[in-house]
This record gives sequence, structure tokens and C-alpha cells, in this order.
Amino acid sequence: MSIKVGLIGFGRMGRFYLDEFKRNSKYEVAYISDVSEECRMLAAQEAPGATIVEDYMPIFEDPTVEVVALCALADSRKEQIETAVKYGKHIISEKPIADTIENEWSMVKAEESYSQFATVNLYLRNSWYHRYIKDFIKSGEIGELAIIRVCHMTPGLAPGEGHEAEGPVFHDCGMHYVDIARWYAKSEYATCHAQGIRMWDWKDPWWLQCHGTFENGIVYDITQGFVYGQLSKDQTHNSYIDIIGTKGIARMTHDFKMARVELRGVNTTEIVERPYGGKNIDKLIDVMADSINSGRRSGRLPKFRDSAIASEFAWNALENARQNALPSIGNNRTLEEIRYRRAHMTNGYGLLPRNHQKNQ
Ligand SMILES: NC(=O)c1ccc[n+]([C@@H]2O[C@H](COP(=O)([O-])OP(=O)(O)OC[C@H]3O[C@@H](n4cnc5c(N)ncnc54)[C@H](O)[C@@H]3O)[C@@H](O)[C@H]2O)c1
Repeated sequence: MSIKVGLIGFGRMGRFYLDEFKRNSKYEVAYISDVSEECRMLAAQEAPGATIVEDYMPIFEDPTVEVVALCALADSRKEQIETAVKYGKHIISEKPIADTIENEWSMVKAEESYSQFATVNLYLRNSWYHRYIKDFIKSGEIGELAIIRVCHMTPGLAPGEGHEAEGPVFHDCGMHYVDIARWYAKSEYATCHAQGIRMWDWKDPWWLQCHGTFENGIVYDITQGFVYGQLSKDQTHNSYIDIIGTKGIARMTHDFKMARVELRGVNTTEIVERPYGGKNIDKLIDVMADSINSGRRSGRLPKFRDSAIASEFAWNALENARQNALPSIGNNRTLEEIRYRRAHMTNGYGLLPRNHQKNQ
């Protein structure tokens, strides 16, 4: 029998989730909730078999719903997680799991004493390319892991365009890279020095680079920014991971369509190219379904704790950057041009849906 799911928040991510739930025969989407009427109208078109609601309480009150997918914004996540716990639903939460560090840790506490399954979409952990590289590291081919370098720069979400509840981009998006570096290091962050820049006179840094050490001595640098040529005629991005061991290296880059992994170990050189895989929601929900059906939590489900650690680190790095000069370059006129261009683009990096549109 398929697992009934209720989806809360039918924006960009909610639509990705719906597509994947529809493709997976282990699930049936029973409800979709969104506070926006236009989003509900789109939901009714996209999921004709589902009940579409403005208020999400009927989802929790329906005992046949086993899973809730929480895809609204961080400012409403805590109350939704608490309600899910009260009604005993399995939880697939978008990141971050709440809007403040304090609330996130209280959600971690709630999850750790909860008997149902709860997970969070730290999607890089489910990507084929990071899993491939991790296996290569484990095989000993690069010697001892020493240096982790991660970079993700795109002409994506502009300041003031939305997502305020998620913080500046080093938090909103950057926490994924913070998490994946920790996942590789298998250790906790020990030190951090962060440098940011306020582009276009925006109050917060929209580009940030930090470096430091993990407790086990591995060093890292993380660069993340959505300041990468928003007004260039033909836009591009730069996204990679560079893993350096005592003997060999492993690296990955992608163009959002294909990912390319390059492994250079002591015995093996391997270059693998496969479809990028997007947000890997297909994998996350499938692992969740298998956990529910078997009654055993899969180790592949990221924990709320992982999300809280990454989120807290990202907030702290932003705070640290404010202590380190934090120069400002550019002006608001350029930012207005960027917002205008993005508002009129139909195909671009991380465009927020204009409610009625189905945006990729
Ligand atoms: N894991 C990832 O890779 C990843 C990527 C992008 C975004 N996200 C996260 O996913 C979440 C959603 O992001 P998005 O880009 O889809 O945002 P979005 O603004 O496109 O969509 C959010 C939707 O939630 C609805 N909503 C807001 N409050 C609600 C409530 N109380 N009840 C029901 N609906 C409500 C809004 O009307 C909107 O349709 C964010 O928390 C974001 O950080 C995660």
C-alpha cells in the first residue's frame, strides 16, 4: 500500500517534491497546503487527486497521512515540526529546520526523543558524485584526507528578492557546503576565519569565504556567493569540490546538467560523467519510504542535528565576517537592475516562482 503524504508549501521546492512523489509508486500525495491562492490553484492542476488546503491542520488531523513534507519557509517550520510530532507523522523537512539557532536546537531535541522518522533535505549527501568521491577516499587511494576545498558561486537569488527568513546566502545556500565539508571530514569544526563582502551596498554579505580546521586536523575552505555575473550577457557559474589527500586528489565540477568526477589515486585514475541529479529529492524520499516500510531508519537519512550544526556554523561565519572589515563594493542601482532582470527572466539561476508559474 502506498504511503500517504501531505505537502506543506507549494513554492519552488514544493513543486520539485510533488514531481518526485508522483514518480515514486511508494507514495500517494493526499494533501497540498499553501497560504497563497495562486499556489493552491497550481497545486490543484498538478495534483488533481490531492486535497488542496490553505490551513495545514487537516493534513495532521488525518490519521491516514503518514508523512509530511515541510517545504514552506524557515519561519513556520518549528510550529509544523512540533505539530507533526504531536500527531506522530514521519517528517521530511526542508532546511533549515527552524528560523533561529535556539529553535533549531530545540527541534533537534524534539527529534532525538521522537519514535517516528524525521529527516532534513541536506541534498548533497544524497548526490552520486559526493558518495562516489567518499568511497574513493575510503579506499585509501588518496592517502590521508588533508584538505577540503568547496566552492559554489552562481548568479542566483539576489538580495531582497525573497527568502528573508533563511538569512543571507551563506546561510540559505551555504549551509549545504558547510554540511558537506563536515560530512567528508567526519569531524566537528574547530576554527574559522571568514571574509565577506557587501556587494551593491546591500546590508549583508552576498559572498563569503571562510577557512579553518576540523578537530581532527583536516583543513577546509568554503566559498559561496550569488554575486557571479548577474548582469553578464550569458550567465555562468563556478561550482566544485577539491579534495586533497597526502597522496592523491579527487575533485568534482558540474554544469547543473552533468557532473564530472575526477579521481587521481595512487593506483587508479578515473573520470566519470553522469547526469547531475538536481536536488536528489527522489533519493531522499525513496530512502524514507524504505525506512518506513522496514521500520529501520536508514543511515542515509540526514539528521536534524546535522542541519542545526551546519546552520549554526553558517550564522557564526556571517558574524565572523562582520568583524573582518566587510567592505562594500557597488551600489543599489546595479542591484535594482539585477532584480529587474531576474524578475523578467524565464530561465535563470534559482528564480523564485512567480506563484502561477512552474519554474525550474
Ligand atoms: N534543500 C535544498 O537544496 C533547498 C533548495 C532551495 C530551497 N530550500 C529550502 O526550501 C524551503 C522552500 O524554498 P522555496 O525556494 O521553495 O521557497 P518559495 O518561496 O518558492 O516557496 C515557499 C512556499 O511556502 C508557502 N508558505 C509560506 N508559509 C506557509 C505556511 N505557513 N503554510 C503553507 N505554505 C506556506 C509560500 O506561499 C510559498 O509558496 C526554504 O526553507 C528553503 O531554504 C532548500
